Amino acid sequence: MNHLDPQRHVRGESQYLDDVPVQQGTLYAAVYESPLAHGILRSLDLEAAQKASGVVRILTAADIPGQNQIGGIVPDEPLLAEGHVHFRGQPVALVLARSEAQAHAALKLITADIEPLPIITDPRRAAAQGELIVPPRTFRIGDSAGAFAQCEYVFAGVAESGGQEHLYIETQAAYAFPTELGGVKIISSTQGPTAVQRHCAVVLGVGMHQVEVDVTRLGGGFGGKEDQATPWGCLAALGAFLVKNPVKLVLDRMADMRMTGKRHPYSSDFKIGLSADLKILAYEVMYYQNAGAAADLSPAVLERTLFHTTNAYHIPNVTATAYSCRTNLPPNTAFRGFGGPQGMFVIESAITKAAEELGLKASDIQRRNLLREGDLFPYRQAAEGCHAEQAWDTAASLFDLAGQRAAVAKYNLENQLFKKGLALMPICFGISFTKTFMNQTRALVHIYTDGSVGISTGAVEMGQGVNTKIARVAATTLGISINRIKIESTNTTRVANTSPSAASATADLNGKATQLACLALRERLLRHASTEFQVDYEGITIEDEQVLAAGIPAETTWEKLVSSAFVRRVALTENAHYATPGVHFDASVEQGHPFAYHVYGTALTTATVDCLRGTYTIDSVQIAHDFGQSFSPAIDRGQIEGAAVQGIGWMTLEEVSYNDEGRLLSNSLNSYKIPDLYSAPAVLDVHFLDTPGHPNAILRSKAVGEPPLMYGIGAYFALRDAVRAFQPGGVLPLVAPMTPERVLGGLYPELVAQLASSAVAG
Ligand code: MTE
Ligand code: HPA
Ligand code: MOS
Repeated sequence: MNHLDPQRHVRGESQYLDDVPVQQGTLYAAVYESPLAHGILRSLDLEAAQKASGVVRILTAADIPGQNQIGGIVPDEPLLAEGHVHFRGQPVALVLARSEAQAHAALKLITADIEPLPIITDPRRAAAQGELIVPPRTFRIGDSAGAFAQCEYVFAGVAESGGQEHLYIETQAAYAFPTELGGVKIISSTQGPTAVQRHCAVVLGVGMHQVEVDVTRLGGGFGGKEDQATPWGCLAALGAFLVKNPVKLVLDRMADMRMTGKRHPYSSDFKIGLSADLKILAYEVMYYQNAGAAADLSPAVLERTLFHTTNAYHIPNVTATAYSCRTNLPPNTAFRGFGGPQGMFVIESAITKAAEELGLKASDIQRRNLLREGDLFPYRQAAEGCHAEQAWDTAASLFDLAGQRAAVAKYNLENQLFKKGLALMPICFGISFTKTFMNQTRALVHIYTDGSVGISTGAVEMGQGVNTKIARVAATTLGISINRIKIESTNTTRVANTSPSAASATADLNGKATQLACLALRERLLRHASTEFQVDYEGITIEDEQVLAAGIPAETTWEKLVSSAFVRRVALTENAHYATPGVHFDASVEQGHPFAYHVYGTALTTATVDCLRGTYTIDSVQIAHDFGQSFSPAIDRGQIEGAAVQGIGWMTLEEVSYNDEGRLLSNSLNSYKIPDLYSAPAVLDVHFLDTPGHPNAILRSKAVGEPPLMYGIGAYFALRDAVRAFQPGGVLPLVAPMTPERVLGGLYPELVAQLASSAVAG
């Protein structure tokens, strides 16, 4: 099953927001951003800008007819700054002009009088000052304090992981049109059409029924458009609503990088305790999440960090506490893995630290502690259908772990200036929105009288192939060719009250709803066939567009069946609702069964470090992954490859950097590096484990969008392994990303320390 979209993409035929034909009278919007990271907004001088050529109007917080509030989880985020500014790049005013160039030119004429306030960029400092987004949360199982006393070995340390820029190819954008009843229609590049609709209604002071949001597809989202497409949708809508012209707002790349939040950086303290036979008996961890200036999705991201505290391991005594810390940076947000990767990096750091101190390989500890069937996670869900050991053992044998280890050791003996390293990275990722109520959606399926089919769901296509998967589900269920099926745009008037396309659950949720709708239509058509053609209902089916009665082709095809049903006034439309069964969670005790199922896998990564330059290559990533019964292996393989490389980028090259004034230094593709073809691993093998899948997974084909990102963590530890082959006693802080600069620091600790102190002196 191939992805239906790429052929159109490479021919330039796919329509993105910026391809929508521009309507007459369209105004172009540009955002005036706060030039300071924290301060009291005394006044704005708009006079010169208002007189600039082509400028129609400039909007500020005072123009908002409803509430100036777009906070999704916590109402702490104004659409336009009012009274205070809390981060550099915060939207303060919106210029509407006849052309994009005029709008941008006018921005330069605006000045703001801002009284500076102290700026915090560090999460631990924020926590020390009581700047928390929400109260801290603790997941606990067993008695970690007591268990440490029983441990043969106890190690403690600090681990830090950095932010990550989403770098979707299509930047944030919205195009809003005033509608006849005093509402708006918004074309938005969003993963969450309902989120845009809900917040626009609040901002405009109208009902949600007055706001229609439509999404054809995104040029990538990666979580960056789960919540953070909302401000741009609301701003364009505000302009269209007030001025009664269409308003188009498209961020250029650097504005997008400056103004939007990223993956949350975390700084964490860990303590791990092991028995003499290397069982992890106890684990304590404290996470400091750098949330930025507003809550955005941070509390939900924080929660998922806690859910993935123990990764793919069984640890009987765990205390994990997480702080969401308010800093003067753009609000950080969802990013593939949604806090899970940050939690998993810490446990892997703890295991690695223990192994290094004990003179062992991390894999000696990892393998011994993998989850087994029935083991409890700290949140009390049991591992059911657990494939952690199967994934590890398959990877170890299929990719010849022993042989690769021997080859690395031999290479390192023979080479002084190049060293190789190797690491294993097991993963376990929970599938479902951790907020139980979000695990619901609907599908609206029309069969037209010529037998073609139109399907609307809450799913947003962002490159992950969900439209292809949904079309396939419908074609299989109805017994017809996929060529008859069209997946419509995602539109809030056709499918309402949807969750964002996120949590890797889009195909499961919307596929299941589509399946239910198609099953209902199928049954209705077959009942009709049985009366119309006087055949027994039992044993009647549709296969390859042919109606079969007890396996024998009846006198009718799909097309005839549909048109005859229409003549008999049989309903050819169905609207189905799906809610994941069996999921629940009680946050008051932090226990429950939050996930429909878990996804497992293991990656074996090797890397080579140039010990003169600190540069490196990730040589190979070989993965054994639990897809269940994949019904679209080509798409699923693509998701693994893309996610693994994205994860490697987060752990190695990609360094989001702000200065103490909260100014983004990595503000363009000159200063922010993502893996390209040359730095991607030369070998990227994906083995499909033989696993049964799960009934909650669509057609038993497990969710695949986020879990493989965490394979990238293996690249960090493979590099660390190589650095330690050169500098065995070296103290290399557990800080990610492992940039070439950090590698050099690990290779030559004294030299780098000397350079740093002479730079300060100089
Ligand atoms: N793949 C592509 N090509 N583009 C994307 O933006 N987003 C990822 C993942 N794969 C993304 C992607 C993220 S963050 C999620 S949550 C899932 O896709 C969402 O889609 P799914 O639920 O259909 O897997
Ligand atoms: N994952 C991804 N996105 C989300 C979640 C989640 O668990 N909850 C809310 N948004
Ligand atoms: Mo993905 S971070 O859940 O959009």
